[in-house]
Amino acid sequence: MVKIFKDLDQFEIYRRNLDLEIKLLGTPHSIGVVPTMGNLHIGHLSLIHKSLKDNDTTMVTIYVNPKQFGPKEDFAKYPRTLKDDILKIKKLVKKQKHDSKNLIIYAPSTDQDIYPSRFSSVISVKGLTENLCGKVRPGHFDGVATVVYRLFAITKPDCAYFGQKDYQQYLMIKKMVHDLDLKINIYPMPTKRDENGLALSSRNQFIKKDERAKALSLPKTLTAIKKIFKKQSFEKAYPKAIKEIQKKMKDKSWEYLEVLDSVTLKEPTQKTPILVIAGALKLSNTRLIDNKLVEVKYVH
Ligand code: PAJ
Repeated sequence: MVKIFKDLDQFEIYRRNLDLEIKLLGTPHSIGVVPTMGNLHIGHLSLIHKSLKDNDTTMVTIYVNPKQFGPKEDFAKYPRTLKDDILKIKKLVKKQKHDSKNLIIYAPSTDQDIYPSRFSSVISVKGLTENLCGKVRPGHFDGVATVVYRLFAITKPDCAYFGQKDYQQYLMIKKMVHDLDLKINIYPMPTKRDENGLALSSRNQFIKKDERAKALSLPKTLTAIKKIFKKQSFEKAYPKAIKEIQKKMKDKSWEYLEVLDSVTLKEPTQKTPILVIAGALKLSNTRLIDNKLVEVKYVH
């Protein structure tokens, strides 16, 4: 049976008992965590599947974190579909023949569990969060870092899984874990897409029918820029890519479209081995983000 906790006290009793059990058994036991905001799709499920495959216990957290939404953002309309999410996870467990005993869902029913009264700490990871989404969503990454830190403190995992779709988020969490020496392995997972190449996202349901083609221009543009780097050396490709980006950015729907060093998220240098091509596109009801990684060829 999949265990579901909506209350922190109950979860903490379970978590303490798990530690006792592990100690008594005396055998290695790894715990994987998959933090989510729910409204699960195949992208989320791929992370859960991986954690179930690689760990003795998997904890999925489902929590729509108010601190990572700006005042004008979609916190209120963010889809909350807990019942459905639980069904999807159970279906995955059955289909992939995982042992349901190894899966725990923690879906706090109150913000108090995560941010008790007078909670006043903020985790801010500098250096990786000022550009791209950080520039258009001030405070967003502080909100993400703070909630992920809290979720790690509550679940105490050995490893955690994050999607490459939110590449800047993944890099930031990895840096936080390193800086604060949390001793948690962070694994990036490939972006799951629909049949047209659109990255799956809980926000895709807000795309209007007549905006589908525009939405698809996001992955298409990233792929086109990637191709430039596949075909030729960085020296030739980079100026061409920048030209292409400048052309695209004339359309104000693009919030950003950039080619950066995939480790530093800064302008690439002659030593950058892998680039990230990252874009964000604003539609009338939502915004979409996506990225592609590409290995760089040099002539020197
Ligand atoms: P959420 O958007 O629900 O995403 C949860 C995890 O699923 C993230 O690691 C995200 O990168 C991953 N994911 C989303 N779409 C994906 C796709 N198409 N393919 C593969 N993985 C995908 O990201 C968050 O929630 C929050 O910021 C969170 C980390 C939970 C903190 O609140």
